[in-house]
Amino acid sequence: SSTKISAIPGDGIGPEVFQSVVDIFDATQAPVIWDVIKLSTKMEGKDPISPEEIEKVRANKVGLKGPTTTPIGGGHVSMNVFLRRELTLYANVRPCVSVPGVKTLYDDVNLVTIRENTEGEYSGKEHEVVPGVIENLKIVSEKACLRVAKYAFEYAAKYGRKKVSAFHKASVMKMGDGLFLKKTREVGKDYPMIGYEERNVDTACGMLVANPHLFDVMVMPNLYGDIVSDVCAGLIGGLGLTPSGNIGENNAIFEAVHGSAPDIAGKNLANPTALLLSSIMMLRHLNLFDHADKIEKAVHGVLKDGVTKTRDLGGSATTTEYTKAIISRL
Ligand code: NAI
Ligand code: MG
Repeated sequence: SSTKISAIPGDGIGPEVFQSVVDIFDATQAPVIWDVIKLSTKMEGKDPISPEEIEKVRANKVGLKGPTTTPIGGGHVSMNVFLRRELTLYANVRPCVSVPGVKTLYDDVNLVTIRENTEGEYSGKEHEVVPGVIENLKIVSEKACLRVAKYAFEYAAKYGRKKVSAFHKASVMKMGDGLFLKKTREVGKDYPMIGYEERNVDTACGMLVANPHLFDVMVMPNLYGDIVSDVCAGLIGGLGLTPSGNIGENNAIFEAVHGSAPDIAGKNLANPTALLLSSIMMLRHLNLFDHADKIEKAVHGVLKDGVTKTRDLGGSATTTEYTKAIISRL
């Protein structure tokens, strides 16, 4: 039986890269049914999705999302912020795995950043205490630490990973990061087959750049995760090749890390790889491993081959030509 998936193609290059995924899923007969979610008004103060549509997203549980343009200086709240809040997507997961045929400093990078996605330094709570002094609050709750730590170890167990590293700065933020470490350590005791270590986030960044093979799964508070996941993306050739998942208790939304690329939108030039890799993550989340492996092999094959490359990777293939090359390898 097929699984119903919320499809949010987005805008800019969103619909073009989304079509590529749909075509490839069709070609491999992946057992999913796309339930296209309508975006509503972009008007000031309005939500980007109507209550009826968000109920569909909630009920479908799993979704794939293309990039959405965030209006600057007014307009609706960012779609990502909206979905994260509505569905309590508490963990942001970013695997960074070397892509064949893309030259970078290291081969065989295979890292996963798991970032607390709801609080920490990004709680949005800040105010002026007295003129000239701002207080910017970092919120750390036991509940949020536990659920993201649990997800990190569950992820490690599901995907046969060997080690979870917790990144922190508990030497300075003794209580906040201290609580994060205490809870992560506690959860780790339930997973004796998975190694556990704690690293200062600054030291860890240096180690990542000097030798990315030192790490495996990394879990951390919000701000550190934002930065570390981009460091990891750099190690595999940039944001254009990076998929992500936003995980909640009942819902999971997968998306590429890049934006809507208005400069190349509508020109059939976009590279759909990041959304494709996100859709592969989604298939694995749904335990559809055979389809995930098959599509991944075809994508890697085309990239390794290097004949059909989109412009951003130095080639001249269009989105549809690249998609056809992948389909012909399935
Ligand atoms: P961007 O990622 O859209 O573009 C940066 C550069 O990378 C551009 O030159 C673009 O052409 C190129 N690029 C990005 N994705 C590409 C792809 N798949 N293939 C080939 N080239 C690609 O970032 P930018 O310009 O800062 O943001 C544009 C819009 O996207 C903004 O409204 C922003 O808010 C939104 N955005 C949405 C995100 C999301 O929905 N997850 C994430 C990041 C930005
Ligand atoms: Mg970021």
